[in-house]
Amino acid sequence: MAIRSATLNVMTRAAMKAARGLKRDFGEVENLQVSKKGPADFVSTADLKAEKVLREELSHARPDYGFLMEESDPVESRDPEGRRWVVDPLDGTTNFLHGLPHFAISIGLEARGEMLAAVVYDPVKDEMFVAEKGAGTFLNDRRLRVSSRNRMSESIFATGIPFMGRGDQGQFLHELGQVMAQSAGVRRWGAAALDLAYVAAGRVDGFWERGLQPWDMAAGWLLVREAGGLVSEIGGRSLHLGSASLLAANESLHGELDKLLKRRPAA
Ligand code: IPD
Ligand code: CA
Ligand code: CA
Repeated sequence: MAIRSATLNVMTRAAMKAARGLKRDFGEVENLQVSKKGPADFVSTADLKAEKVLREELSHARPDYGFLMEESDPVESRDPEGRRWVVDPLDGTTNFLHGLPHFAISIGLEARGEMLAAVVYDPVKDEMFVAEKGAGTFLNDRRLRVSSRNRMSESIFATGIPFMGRGDQGQFLHELGQVMAQSAGVRRWGAAALDLAYVAAGRVDGFWERGLQPWDMAAGWLLVREAGGLVSEIGGRSLHLGSASLLAANESLHGELDKLLKRRPAA
């Protein structure tokens, strides 16, 4: 069994604590589905509560580290190395709201653009994905590797579909068309942090999405890299937390998926 570093222990403990509240609230959502008001307000409170628990736990353990969190203002790092937590307290909110048991807490530790440690925890399936720079990726203490598939025709890919009029729908439909035509299938699960964790676990061979936020990708990015996969922007440029697109896959398929996504629509 792998021995976790002190940092990963801090992160997993915080995730487990916030997850207890989320699980309780998820049970309540199932009751609220049938109520007239619906669960929407309740869910936004669940989100905020989880973020508060994570902020308290992480800042208690590492008082100087900064924060970049989805639901609150950034906190500047006072750490000499500039370390900060990049946190999504609930990734997969829409799933949570609809009673779909597929969501996660995502915590990344970053310093000056570099990811140092990552935790993505799925409380419903009790799956704890962790990675630390140079030390590999683990799922509940089992070492993970990206898949070794190298044929598009045998591979499946996860993606995110633009919604509420956001993003470029034409561009997405074109990309989907390309990947649909060549691969064994495309999945849309609704939680980007878990999509990346699944690439790291070799459950899916690649993932692409445009318009992600830093907290959607921070932890998952390191999970994939430490499991031997490649992560970049679509088009091959290096990824950074402000990137407008993300493409992750095993080494054999990364270039091919990128080529498909970049292929121009026929005039
Ligand atoms: C969303 C999920 C989803 C992705 C969206 C994200 P949220 O995060 O990761 O899979 O397609 O782009 O905004 O809102 O559930 O934290
Ligand atoms: Ca998210
Ligand atoms: Ca979120």
